[in-house]
Amino acid sequence: MVPSFLSLSFSSLGLRASGLILVLGFLKLIRLLLRRQMLAKAMDNFPGPPTHWLFGHALEIQETGSLDKVVSWAHQFPYAHPLWFGQFIGFLNIYEPDYAQAVYSRGDPKAPDVYDFFLQWIGRGLLVLEGPKWLQHRKLLTPGFHYDVLKPYVAVFTESTRIMLDKWEEKAREGKSFDIFCDVGHMALNTLMKCTFGRGDTGLGHSRDSSYYLAVSDLTLLMQQRLVSFQYHNDFIYWLTPHGRRFLRACQVAHDHTDQVIRERKAALQDEKVQKKIQNRRHLDFLDILLGAWDEDDIKLSDADLRAEVDTFMFEGHDTTTSGISWFLYCMALYPEHQHRCREEVREILGDQDSFQWDDLGKMTYLTMCIKESFRLYPPVPQVYRQLSKPVTFVDGRSLPAGSLISMHIYALHRNSAVWPDPEVFDPLRFSTENASKRHPFAFMPFSAGPRNCIGQQFAMSEMKVVTAMCLLRFEFSLDPSRLPIKMPQLVLCSKNGFHLHLKPLGPGSGK
Ligand code: HEM
Ligand SMILES: *[C@@H]1O[C@H](CO)[C@@H](O)[C@H](O)[C@H]1NC(C)=O
Repeated sequence: MVPSFLSLSFSSLGLRASGLILVLGFLKLIRLLLRRQMLAKAMDNFPGPPTHWLFGHALEIQETGSLDKVVSWAHQFPYAHPLWFGQFIGFLNIYEPDYAQAVYSRGDPKAPDVYDFFLQWIGRGLLVLEGPKWLQHRKLLTPGFHYDVLKPYVAVFTESTRIMLDKWEEKAREGKSFDIFCDVGHMALNTLMKCTFGRGDTGLGHSRDSSYYLAVSDLTLLMQQRLVSFQYHNDFIYWLTPHGRRFLRACQVAHDHTDQVIRERKAALQDEKVQKKIQNRRHLDFLDILLGAWDEDDIKLSDADLRAEVDTFMFEGHDTTTSGISWFLYCMALYPEHQHRCREEVREILGDQDSFQWDDLGKMTYLTMCIKESFRLYPPVPQVYRQLSKPVTFVDGRSLPAGSLISMHIYALHRNSAVWPDPEVFDPLRFSTENASKRHPFAFMPFSAGPRNCIGQQFAMSEMKVVTAMCLLRFEFSLDPSRLPIKMPQLVLCSKNGFHLHLKPLGPGSGK
């Protein structure tokens, strides 16, 4: 027996292995070709821009200026057009409110071709879950964003912003423009760590927290790079590259941190004295809410579910607000008259208080309109994707079968001239109550819309208001014409050039 087994020489083993790989590769190719045919046939009724035989539209999409390229395609092809990422992945790219409503008022799952890249890090949390499990988690987590929970966060936003502004005061003294993006990112991540775990990298100065902070920044960057590098798309190949291994190492650091924080918090909850202290604390963090979440059937989140939700919040919650705040400050620098009006408004609201209170946020009407207008022109999440679970018929009678892929181009929707007259003009009055009430409910969707909209929307708006109001009180912002931002869609809308602004301190009595 043994000898006959040994007689199987290595070369014949190798031959069989390569034969198997070839067959598997062939089957995979057939599957891809069949899917390609299905996707292409489904979009037969939708004319679109010419495709490259190998790359589809991928080359145009990777170039700078790609977002505005899609806007010009949107002019050429009303409502929708096919958009191919290479040969095998074809989306129907849509940018019209009725089209958006037809798909996004339903809860179809996310397109795995895009969202599966997130799994290794954030796991199956709200962002990527689907079906009954998504609904269960969404119900469990919604109370975590109730305004009673959000109210005390105003103090957290204020504290993190002060640290950033003090740093800027130093930098501004040199009299040169500087890139604000990294500091905003640091501030937003610090805030989110405080709101999620109850502490940030500055508070207790845990070295573990700062390595977590570095890992999250690294993961965000690596994932953005992977998304635009087609050679990294296959998981198997990616994990073998140095880039992929760096990603896995950072994931490990992030997961270990999250697991440990969850473990410690659970242990602390066993202790009744600590429990009392938590109840009396000035604010609950997301972890308290997650650990206290039970559904009607008394089902608690498993440890894996908890980690996925925490990691999802950390990912979704910091990069998006960083982009939003950076583009907003750029808009303020670009339009000094609006900057001036916002500053006057927040000065009046602050009066002689030394910091903002929750109730102040509702009074910031002009600032809020400006934030919305900057979300319109520079949506932090420029594109979201779905895979249809059942067929859809659009208003003009054209339809798509189940299995089709949809790309909702929020950026192009927000510059659709049929909905937004003079779309390139920055005009906050578009968002006056009267004007906004006349608009299609799916015309403006920076937080997406429908059942799968952003659960953190109120949190994000409150943070945006506190941070930007404090920025405007402390500094006057102006452009550095030699270094204007260049739009670059990654996971969120970034600038290839950073955000270089001149900051002029406004002196004492300016809400310091
Ligand atoms: C300016 C800031 C923000 C913007 C523009 C934004 C935008 C979005 C968008 C467009 C989606 C839909 C994504 C998709 O369909 O793939 C989404 C989903 C989500 N966002 Fe946000 N977001 C922001 C801030 C936040 C914050 C601060 C948090 C948490 C603390 C958060 C948590 C989430 C979660 C968990 C989902 C998935 C919800 C679900 O599918 O049920 N977001 N966000
Ligand atoms: C509505 O928008 C138009 C154009 O932006 C503006 O001129 C008008 O004043 C706005 N109306 C209100 C009530 O704000």
